[in-house]
Amino acid sequence: MTEESKKQRQFEAKIDLMRERIKDSDDFKVLDEVFDRRVLMDLYALASKGVISSLGGAVSTGKEANIFRAKGEDEKDLAVKIYRINTSNFKAMQNYLLGDPRFGSIKGTKRAIIAAWTRKEFRNLRRAEEVGVKVPHPIVMRENILVMEMVGDVETPAPQLKDVTLEPKEAELAFEKITEYISLLYNKANLVHADLSEFNILYHEGEPVIIDMGQSVTLEHPMARSFLERDISNLARYFKKKYAVGSEEAIKEKIRAGKAG
Ligand SMILES: Nc1ncnc2c1ncn2[C@@H]1O[C@H](COP(=O)(O)OP(=O)(O)OP(=O)(O)O)[C@@H](O)[C@H]1O
Ligand SMILES: [Mg+2]
Repeated sequence: MTEESKKQRQFEAKIDLMRERIKDSDDFKVLDEVFDRRVLMDLYALASKGVISSLGGAVSTGKEANIFRAKGEDEKDLAVKIYRINTSNFKAMQNYLLGDPRFGSIKGTKRAIIAAWTRKEFRNLRRAEEVGVKVPHPIVMRENILVMEMVGDVETPAPQLKDVTLEPKEAELAFEKITEYISLLYNKANLVHADLSEFNILYHEGEPVIIDMGQSVTLEHPMARSFLERDISNLARYFKKKYAVGSEEAIKEKIRAGKAG
C-alpha cells in the first residue's frame, strides 16, 4: 500500500469512528448536512484530545448553527455548537466582523469567515465570563465548532426565557440581572450583545444565562450604539409586556451608573 492510500485508509477509519460516536444522534437529515468530512475530522481531533467523549442528539437546529448534546472529560455535560459552512447568512457575518479590531483582515472564503465567527463567539463568551456575566463557560473552539458548558444537563437543557413563566418577584430579579449584564458587557467588557432577546437568554436555577454571542461586537463597531439601543428596547419590551416590570430608562440608568462606577 502506498503512503498516500494508507493515510486515506486511516482517515476513513477515523471518520467511521466518529460516525459511530454520533450514531445515536436522532436527526439524520441534520447529520448529513452538518457532519461533513471536515467536521467529522475536527470532532475526531477533539475526541482524541479528550475534550469530547461522546456526542448525542440535537438540542437545537437554528438558521446558522446546530447545538448538540455531548459528554466531556469526567462525563461533564457539554453543548457543541456547529456553525454550518453553507449558511446563507455569511454576508451578514462579514459585516459584523468588519468593524471589530480583533478581526481586521479575514480572508474572504466562507470557511475562513465562519471560523472567525466561531472564534469571535468563543472570545465574546470568555470576555463576558471574565467580567461576571453568567454565560455557558466556553471550553474550546476548532474551525466551525464551539464546545461549551451545557446549561442545565444533557437530558434537560435549560429552557429559553421565552418558554418560562416567572413569578412577579422572579421576573423582577431576572430583569435586574439582565440589566446588570448589559451594563457589565458595555462598561467592563467593551461589548454589545447585539441579539439580546428572550430567545438568547436561558433560565437556569432561578437565574438568567446569556447565550449566542457570535454577533456580539466591540464598542469600536460603527453600529455598536444602535445594537445596544435595540437590545435595550427588546428586553424592556419583553418584560413590560409579559410581566409589567422594567423599562428602557431603568436599563439606561444602570448603564450610566456602571460607567461611573
Ligand atoms: N450552552 C448551552 N446550554 C444549553 N442550551 C443551549 C446552549 N447553547 C445553546 N443552547 C440551546 O440552543 C439554542 C440555539 O443556540 P444559539 O442561540 O447559540 O444558536 P442559534 O440561535 O441557533 O444560532 P443561529 O441563530 O446562528 O442559528 C438556544 O436557544 C438554546 O435553547
Ligand atoms: Mg439564538
